[in-house]
Amino acid sequence: MKSTIAEVYKHVGEEVKIGAWLANKRSSGKIAFLQLRDGTGFIQGVVVKNEVAEEVFQAAKSVTQESSLYVTGVVQKDERSPLGYELTVKGIEIIQLASDYPITPKEHGTEFLMDNRHLWLRSKRQHAVMKIRNEIIRSTYEFFNNAGFVKVDPPILTGSAPEGTTELFHTQYFDEEAYLSQSGQLYLEAAAMALGKVFSFGPTFRAEKSKTRRHLIEFWMIEPEMAFANHEESLVVQEEYVSHIVQSVLKNCQLELKTLGRDTAKLEKITAPFPRITYDDALKLLHEKGFNDVEWGDDFGAPHETAIAESYDKPVFIIHYPTELKPFYMQPHPERDDVVLCADMIAPEGYGEIIGGSERIYDYELLKKRIEEHNLPEEAYNWYLELRKYGSVPHSGFGLGLERTVAWISGVEHVRETIPFPRLLNRLYP
Ligand code: 4AD
Ligand code: MG
Repeated sequence: MKSTIAEVYKHVGEEVKIGAWLANKRSSGKIAFLQLRDGTGFIQGVVVKNEVAEEVFQAAKSVTQESSLYVTGVVQKDERSPLGYELTVKGIEIIQLASDYPITPKEHGTEFLMDNRHLWLRSKRQHAVMKIRNEIIRSTYEFFNNAGFVKVDPPILTGSAPEGTTELFHTQYFDEEAYLSQSGQLYLEAAAMALGKVFSFGPTFRAEKSKTRRHLIEFWMIEPEMAFANHEESLVVQEEYVSHIVQSVLKNCQLELKTLGRDTAKLEKITAPFPRITYDDALKLLHEKGFNDVEWGDDFGAPHETAIAESYDKPVFIIHYPTELKPFYMQPHPERDDVVLCADMIAPEGYGEIIGGSERIYDYELLKKRIEEHNLPEEAYNWYLELRKYGSVPHSGFGLGLERTVAWISGVEHVRETIPFPRLLNRLYP
């Protein structure tokens, strides 16, 4: 009977046939241990010379790493294996004998692995990270669908730039100039006025010259937007959402977290509510910790975010940043015009900002003024401004960067391992 590795638990004591690749192998004169993978998981196949036909043992001995096979065998319970099951191999049919596979079980340098990303994805570690990424995506849809949000897909080719004009990818749109979307936010605001609570999940592009472990050129963002919601209400959605995805990964990805050696005790603490600290107090905290390189009005860098996060064992919201540090659309604080109603959510353990969000300006005149102050071309923003003419309402939203979130929850150091084919500074291959 055909089975996948993930489903062998249904067939204990039975013979199954699995389509697989050979991940790794150990053998002696009498026995061979085949590490098999099929995309759904990893299982050990044991081939005992005396118990199989001679050609089956020869196939086990000669098969090369990453060859594709059909393996038949009897499923055994095995407490020592991570999966809990093992296969007593009876037959091997080689589909294609792989030639010298470049990624051997020895250590390889990062650049080599990145050049071979199309193959590196097959490794146990990358497999685990991709499964966690998938669980975050699945539980994201679950969370927002259950909360009554409607998924809306903003365009990728646009004429507007929500997050400032310095990091845009320019492209030709017939006779017009266009950009690749940095954020779907402005379109989601329009959609929220039509559908109430909306969210998007899609690729976004930043021509950032940053070469850090947190920056990608192309990354995926989840962007909820809510009509009639103020800043505080948005923070509640954010903390509940992030708690939900962390708890879902804990529930559904135990094996993957174990493969990655993730300290799950740290993740278990991630439950709403999360602490909030104002920018002003965060600055005081940094000064107390000896960071004298930042003054009021400066943006926080990675070391600052890490130092602030160290004071908490949950993500922390830094709220009310100085107006000049943030984009044009943010609603001013009702009692102070030097800060805005915004928050960055900083992940624990040095993973940095995973969410940026705010209440949006809904007054027509103020928004018009801001568009002018930021020297944005009015023609491109007319439609956005018009939203403030026809039944404007207070509204708030945020964007969660998927890859930084995957990095944090998986406990992997660099975002390059959190997306199948990372686009990095100077890397478009493979
Ligand atoms: O803080 P950002 O720039 O916010 C926005 O784009 C808003 N328009 C979102 C909204 O309110 N709808 O980006 C949001 C998140 C960041 O917190 C970070 O997690 C991620 O997107 N991000 C990046 N991730 C990887 N590489 C980059 N270069 C990133 N830039 C932002
Ligand atoms: Mg931000």
